Amino acid sequence: MHSFAEDAKECGDVIKVSGNAHPMRLQPLAIRRCLNNLIENALRYGEKADIVIGETDDEVVISIRDAGPGIPEDKLEAVFTPFYRLEASRSRHTGGIGLGLSIARDMARKQGGDITLKNAPEGGLVATLVLPKQY
Ligand SMILES: Nc1ncnc2c1ncn2[C@@H]1O[C@H](COP(=O)(O)OP(=O)(O)OP(=O)(O)O)[C@@H](O)[C@H]1O
Ligand SMILES: [Mg+2]
Repeated sequence: MHSFAEDAKECGDVIKVSGNAHPMRLQPLAIRRCLNNLIENALRYGEKADIVIGETDDEVVISIRDAGPGIPEDKLEAVFTPFYRLEASRSRHTGGIGLGLSIARDMARKQGGDITLKNAPEGGLVATLVLPKQY
């Protein structure tokens, strides 16, 4: 996460990282891709990414909150469908083919975890990646 934030600073992107978690064994490329897809969405649709890392006894939890419009409640699951894009995104020039979330969830699930989305009460979307600890 901290290396993402470093890269982003060089590109002028707004990424903030706080918190920490116990080191654990993961597939580095898969997890990087997974996080990258979530951060890319936060920056593309929500202007910034506030990332908080935390953990419980058996899980590491990484949440990424942006400052965008969020996603309608009845579409929070549908956006994980391959090639699915919300109406507002289809008309944007900001690229994207609608695979990012589906790939990210696939990778999280292959490592025994998952990704969920919710709208923050104070606005913006929160994407939460939960990974079971494995040593
Ligand atoms: N942080 C977000 N805020 C608002 N809408 C979002 C956010 N993240 C995703 N979406 C909506 O969900 C859709 C699917 O996201 P997904 O990442 O799967 O595809 P994409 O960003 O359109 O393309 P790409 O394949 O480049 O990731 C987006 O097109 C957008 O409509
Ligand atoms: Mg995307």
